[in-house]
Amino acid sequence: MPFHTRYTVFLLAALSLASAQRTPAFKGALLLEPGLNNAKCMTASSNTNGATVTIQACTGAAAQKWTFAGGNDGKVKIFGDKCLDVPGGSKADGTKLQIWACTDNNPNQRFAYTFDNRLAWANSGKCVDLSGGNQADGNPVQVAGCTNGNVNQVWNTGYMVNDLPQTSQEGQYGTNACGTASSDSSNCQTAWINSAEDFCFWAPPNPNSAIGDIEREAIAWCTKSGRGSRTIPDGTFSGVHFVKTHNYVQVTGKGNFTRVNIRAGDDGGELDNRGADGKGNPVGGLVYGNTFSPGLQYHEWTSFISDDEFCFRACIGPDATKNCNHIYDLMGCYWNMPANYDAGVFENCDADNDLPMGVYGTSTWYQGVSPTPPPHPAASSSNCQALPTVKVGPAKRRRENGGFEKRFVPRFPEATPPPLP
Ligand SMILES: *[C@@H]1O[C@H](CO)[C@@H](O)[C@H](O)[C@H]1NC(C)=O
Repeated sequence: MPFHTRYTVFLLAALSLASAQRTPAFKGALLLEPGLNNAKCMTASSNTNGATVTIQACTGAAAQKWTFAGGNDGKVKIFGDKCLDVPGGSKADGTKLQIWACTDNNPNQRFAYTFDNRLAWANSGKCVDLSGGNQADGNPVQVAGCTNGNVNQVWNTGYMVNDLPQTSQEGQYGTNACGTASSDSSNCQTAWINSAEDFCFWAPPNPNSAIGDIEREAIAWCTKSGRGSRTIPDGTFSGVHFVKTHNYVQVTGKGNFTRVNIRAGDDGGELDNRGADGKGNPVGGLVYGNTFSPGLQYHEWTSFISDDEFCFRACIGPDATKNCNHIYDLMGCYWNMPANYDAGVFENCDADNDLPMGVYGTSTWYQGVSPTPPPHPAASSSNCQALPTVKVGPAKRRRENGGFEKRFVPRFPEATPPPLP
């Protein structure tokens, strides 16, 4: 859905109005992950006044679970009674953040979460910033002047895949903690994108639906059982193409998607992580995958589906919002994600990044402006491995999955992650 207009309004409001308070679209205790999305999390070094705040590998420990208190006080809480805090209220760039006991009306503890996933220190022109963009464990988090498009100031909100909430957003149709029992009546809204044989897409819960009418309620349909979602009936696909680039994973293809409840003749609709109001389409939709790091949450993703074509891209890295831009919601799969869509082929490939949708050299085209430019050419792919077909099979158990379990071992003392599902 188009969001650039609202985006500007929200951003200005969050950064400049005295009483502006905007909390993330997600509920509960949240991980705060640096914009590069490389499995790092904002972490309090201990539960004491003055404890430093750094990034560490995400484990889901209590020291990484931040709660936005809401209201006008703008508190970002941890350990129940501590708050993210600017020492001495210093406005000097480079001031390292700490945690401190939460106190009422404390301007040093007042933050606003912006529509572009920045964390602004209210009324200061300063944002929470990853020092020097250094991704090493232990690098401190500081305040620095807010600058647009600065990936070091992006803090995505998310959840450990082994600690999903029942629901992640207000007004959600289905659930995120989906269990392991796939069923035809599941309303699971946690999707995976791993390969041509192992992915999900968003489709309607009820038969004969136009995707544009149910985009807020779409649910996950997957090629693997064992993740608590619905499974895509065998024979649905006529072609599936998966590519992995340095910055995204993408699956594209053809099929008869009336079998996943899309109305015959529906020319489709777009689904993404942000929607028009900052909640996703579907509301509460979460996307995970193992390509870049085991069980990594994708915070930027875009997808289209019609009665006979689909595409789904999930992005990481400094240009995630550009490569997964979802303002071109009327332009369909091929224009947004130029790739192989051929029927009769099922394959996994490596590929280069496509040029970002809508960006032509130094100019950016906006939907509705005439003339409409052509799609970019599909980037070249390599190392393609053909598959006979794509049909439903069990999801891999983690112990078979090359060190998956090992990577979740807590790396610092207070880590108490929940048991693996
Ligand atoms: C799609 O599948 C449905 C249900 O299996 C079938 O009735 C319909 O003819 C198929 N449509 C096409 C275009 O093959």
